[in-house]
Amino acid sequence: MEQELLTEQPNTQPQELSPNILEVSGLKQYFPMKVNFLGKPLAYVHAVDGVSFNLERGKTIGIVGESGCGKTTLGKTILKLYKKYDGKVIFDGKDTDELTRADMPKFRCDMQLIFQDPYSSLPPRMTVGSIISEAVKVHNIVPKEQVREYVHGVMDRCGLQQHYFDRYPHEFSGGQRQRICIARALAVKPKLVICDEPVSALDVSIQAQIINLLKKLQKEEGMSYMFISHDLSVVKYISDTIAVMYLGNIVEYGTTDRICGNPLHPYTQALFSAVPNPDPHAKSDRIALEGDLPSPANPPKGCKFHTRCKYCSEKCTLVTPEFREIAPGHSVACHLYADE
Ligand SMILES: Nc1ncnc2c1ncn2[C@@H]1O[C@H](COP(=O)(O)OP(=O)(O)O)[C@@H](O)[C@H]1O
Ligand code: SF4
Ligand SMILES: [Mg+2]
Repeated sequence: MEQELLTEQPNTQPQELSPNILEVSGLKQYFPMKVNFLGKPLAYVHAVDGVSFNLERGKTIGIVGESGCGKTTLGKTILKLYKKYDGKVIFDGKDTDELTRADMPKFRCDMQLIFQDPYSSLPPRMTVGSIISEAVKVHNIVPKEQVREYVHGVMDRCGLQQHYFDRYPHEFSGGQRQRICIARALAVKPKLVICDEPVSALDVSIQAQIINLLKKLQKEEGMSYMFISHDLSVVKYISDTIAVMYLGNIVEYGTTDRICGNPLHPYTQALFSAVPNPDPHAKSDRIALEGDLPSPANPPKGCKFHTRCKYCSEKCTLVTPEFREIAPGHSVACHLYADE
């Protein structure tokens, strides 16, 4: 009876905000390759092949792996730029499958994308000010009469001088252009920014400036980042957690400290040994990553990494390793750790 009374009470509690801005489970993105005469796909490229992870509000997840392993496709599928093949994406507490047409403008505003190539991602015939203002106006971020002042403020926070407002993208260097892209994304107050190789096209000296800018803005604004890169040495400076991807799957996931201090998967170890050590006297224990990434249209059976792994056993060629938690917050998919 008491139980009944309790359940009949109206729910007057405010809805609690989920601690995660993003929850991805079993996400798959298959691209049709060959089609029969009826247009039915006969084969697929398994670009993202069952990816699951959570991202806490205000934190950064680094997604790292060789070119072609599915990082960009993962980002674009989360952004709903591709219709997913399978799986679930919960963004800001809401299943993105349930978003209606009317919900889409807010979704497009809350989740922003910064690309690798700041040269092609800015419209050449618009001034810097109008590029940033356009997004602010479309999403009604501030009243019309305050747009100019607001954009000046955003430019200032992104290290862009106010007189750049009336200049064109081609007048700027790669690093400055990436600052313009960041300002455009930041100006609409997003909750999540997917940064897809945002510094890969920039000089090494400029890379650190852009990473530091992203970190500073995150501290000020509290937004979350999904930071995609093929370069572990870049990812580790900005990420709270790191997911290592290989042929469409996460093969290792953990806090940055765990992944950098104790990488377990032979693929993660190989990625680390490819990072040059600045100490010329350090002993080199480089693990060569031999061969090319196999085709995601026809991935190897068993462990997908077995064709390139120096620890490969017969079991690895037959049985897909389970993705298991080895220590709190540190998971790996490899038979070497099956009994731990
Ligand atoms: N639109 C598409 N159609 C067909 N195949 C694609 C498409 N986009 C990406 N792929 C394939 O999916 C795989 C993953 O690509 P991508 O996500 O770009 O990897 P990454 O960003 O890690 O370099 C690659 O084999 C790529 O050729
Ligand atoms: S499961 Fe086997 S092939 Fe795969 S990474 Fe581990 S040891 Fe290497
Ligand atoms: Mg990519």
